[in-house]
Amino acid sequence: MAEEHGHEFILEIPEFEHLSYEVEEGIALVTLRRPEALNALSQDLLRELAEVAEVLAQDPEARVAIFTGEGKAFAAGADLKEIAAIKDPFMAREYALLGQQVFSEIAALPIPTIAAINGYALGGGLELALACDLRVAATGARLGLPEVGLGLIPGFGGTQRLPRLIGRGRALDLIFTGRHVTAEEALSMGLVNRVGEDALEEARKLAEKILKNAPIALALAKESVVRGEGLDLAEALEIEADLFGYAAATEDMKEGVRAFLEKRPPNFKGE
Ligand code: CAA
Repeated sequence: MAEEHGHEFILEIPEFEHLSYEVEEGIALVTLRRPEALNALSQDLLRELAEVAEVLAQDPEARVAIFTGEGKAFAAGADLKEIAAIKDPFMAREYALLGQQVFSEIAALPIPTIAAINGYALGGGLELALACDLRVAATGARLGLPEVGLGLIPGFGGTQRLPRLIGRGRALDLIFTGRHVTAEEALSMGLVNRVGEDALEEARKLAEKILKNAPIALALAKESVVRGEGLDLAEALEIEADLFGYAAATEDMKEGVRAFLEKRPPNFKGE
């Protein structure tokens, strides 16, 4: 996907059928484009999301990524037509593993990621939003994990990422009832970070605030949070100290502190 030509770094962006990818002023925008099926996550769309994650991991222009959906949904879940065609538990397991793997690749991106939830984020759609670092919802958005109503369970990370984010009790309330929550309720339970009339506009405002900060520090802060999650506190604190050390070795750290002392805004270079 990426080739080195002399010193020139050329990133080849694949042609996507079910989503679009564009980068402007540091913000990469990934838009799911299957509005006729409320952006249901077909296997083809999941594979394109894996490719987009690979692009995002390498694109030097992409400093924050926003995921959103075209039309009235962010994503209404795994594609139920494909689920209906699953013949046995082994196939179903493979299906879950595919979604989990793609969303884990998104969760592991070194840049901050934001889900701009413009409408329905249900099942696999909410699980995609949970794989992002931050979530912003439009006032009319509806979020939920309705799988048990279909005789299924959330299979693209929902049973793991939701309780880690909002706590076991609140997560099991949503998982057991399968109910849809409004953007405001999602905000009150910590499921989303911000609510605004227009999710994308709100997400861009958030991205712009993030973009003012030092890029390497952002990556290290995310790494510290993500790596610490599965560890006990003492081990996790050691990782934090190591990464603090890396941050302190950057040119941007010198610039940040100098700018503070000189009472001017910093000019970070990502070095
Ligand atoms: N898969 C495939 N197609 C879907 C879909 C899905 N998850 N969700 C919606 N669609 C399709 C509909 O079939 C419909 O297509 P047709 O016009 O060809 O009939 C089109 O999108 C529009 O949907 P509706 O007519 O249903 O729109 P609505 O406004 O009346 O209702 C909705 C919207 C409440 C979101 C409703 O579509 C809905 O409940 N969708 C299913 C949500 C769901 O159960 N998601 C979980 C899927 S399972 C899962 O995700 C498992 C996992 O964890 C991995």
